[in-house]
Amino acid sequence: MRRKLVVGNWKMYGRLASNKALLEGVVAGVRELKGADYAVCVPYPYLAQAQSMLQGGNVAWGAQNLNQHEEGAYTGAVAPGMLVDFGCRYVIIGHSERRGLFQETNVSASAKFDAALRAGLTPIFCVGETLAEREAGVTEQVVATQLDAVLNSAGAQGLAKAVVAYEPVWAIGTGKTASPDQAQAVHAFIRQRVAQQDSHVAQALCILYGGSVKAANASELFAMQDIDGGLIGGASLVANDFVAICRAAQ
Ligand code: PGA
Repeated sequence: MRRKLVVGNWKMYGRLASNKALLEGVVAGVRELKGADYAVCVPYPYLAQAQSMLQGGNVAWGAQNLNQHEEGAYTGAVAPGMLVDFGCRYVIIGHSERRGLFQETNVSASAKFDAALRAGLTPIFCVGETLAEREAGVTEQVVATQLDAVLNSAGAQGLAKAVVAYEPVWAIGTGKTASPDQAQAVHAFIRQRVAQQDSHVAQALCILYGGSVKAANASELFAMQDIDGGLIGGASLVANDFVAICRAAQ
């Protein structure tokens, strides 16, 4: 049995005061839950705050991006080891907003994936098709190409230390969730593609669904055979909503 995981992706939201209230609400709401794993991925400046408020509890924390280099003259970039310094367990890699707004490619996402693993971080590797791609019937090709970027470099052994998040771009922040069956079909496809390299790794792989997950739809999504939890954007900014989604993963 795979253990479920619920991860909040705060994106570029939050301030010290509102984060404090949010984290207090999450900590209090999730404290007694034992059936799954929980985490929040916060903006870089708030990693210290997340660390001081979450350490010793059952909510892990992480970042939303990193630079693939260990150190150097890369103005504005953040190295994997810096995330480790602040106790991060997770780092989101290749989110569609990074790909779409910041020119990230399968090549750079794969380099970041490898760098995260070298630092001992757990990459949450995002894949997903746009609406135009879904309507053109190329969802599986798109997801396969994204997944192959890491399968061909880090291999199945790399994926054994990672999490995959299927996030259809048309469902992110739009209120349009993939139906449980739509999501399940792509999750099964991802697992089967990893199984072509290593069936044990594929069976154990944690595959999250992301895209307008709410308290109201989390249970039916998480009930699907190959959906192992969620990557939660908007609803992770409201403590009660995020806690309700964490409960649905029990
Ligand atoms: P959303 O975002 O839950 O607001 O759709 C999900 C994500 O981008 O990870």
